[in-house]
Amino acid sequence: MTVIKINAITVPEGIGSEVASRFAARAGAVDGTEGFEGFELWQPEDGRNQWLVVTRWRDDASFEEWRSSGQAAHAHKPVEGATEKPLNLSAELWHYTVSVTSKEKD
Ligand code: HEM
Repeated sequence: MTVIKINAITVPEGIGSEVASRFAARAGAVDGTEGFEGFELWQPEDGRNQWLVVTRWRDDASFEEWRSSGQAAHAHKPVEGATEKPLNLSAELWHYTVSVTSKEKD
């Protein structure tokens, strides 16, 4: 059963586009990880400053393995040749699982 791990990142005013381009540059960095089903970066539209990295995993164990094995650290390393410094953003990890689903019929 898919689990959702949301990293809620606090992004100070004015650096949203820099954060988005850093994510875009690493978008494929988690592909191929056992149990990884995909992620999106969600940008707030209501004046909040928390951007959400919504990640989907086959199960908790796959996510924990990614975090603890050094693969997560690898995905967070600057890309080859980059001169950028870490933005030192603060973040909060939320764990979710689907409770009820509903889908519109085609
Ligand atoms: C739920 C899983 C994730 C966790 C727990 C996590 C953790 C974090 C944390 C704590 C930060 C802020 C501190 C820092 O800059 O290192 C961060 C920033 C960032 N994360 Fe993640 N992350 C997750 C998923 C991802 C994914 C899937 C990607 C894309 C491949 C990604 C790419 C980035 C990037 C580009 C930044 C900005 C780093 C910078 O240049 O300052 N993260 N992440």
